[in-house]
Amino acid sequence: MSRSHAAAASLLLFGAAALHVARAAPEPAVAAGKRLFDADCVMCHRADGSGGVHFGHGVVSADLRAPRLERTYHHENRLIVRAILDGRDQSDRPLHAPMPHWGGTLTVAQARDIVAFLHTLKAH
Ligand code: HEC
Repeated sequence: MSRSHAAAASLLLFGAAALHVARAAPEPAVAAGKRLFDADCVMCHRADGSGGVHFGHGVVSADLRAPRLERTYHHENRLIVRAILDGRDQSDRPLHAPMPHWGGTLTVAQARDIVAFLHTLKAH
């Protein structure tokens, strides 16, 4: 094999590997996250994510906008994903009803899309 053929072959291999990685872990998508948020979350967390809806017994829906949520969850996306899917707070304590547990309804990839969208919500 000539040198240029070898280079082309390794480029091809590299391309295939990159494609494989992209398929294995799709990048979270803000637009898909917004669609899911609009369908499943706005009724309790409001369209702008500011929350503040009272459910009695002192339970209020959380403000999901970026600055507050990111601080609360130590800038750890996986903890925010866990809160959505498993209903656990940043210290692994259960969140209060009526916050649903979305595991089984939403996939991890969908929860990551929602988190990507929440990062775009800024408090004014
Ligand atoms: C039926 C109302 C309701 C729906 C629907 C709902 N939530 Fe919640 N959510 C709540 C309430 C109430 C809390 C606060 C729970 C608490 O204080 O322990 C909460 C808390 C959270 C938290 C924790 C925030 C924090 O500061 O600890 C996250 C994250 C969250 N919700 C995301 C979502 C997402 C994403 C969706 C849509 C997929 C959603 N919620 C749908 C009511 C709801």
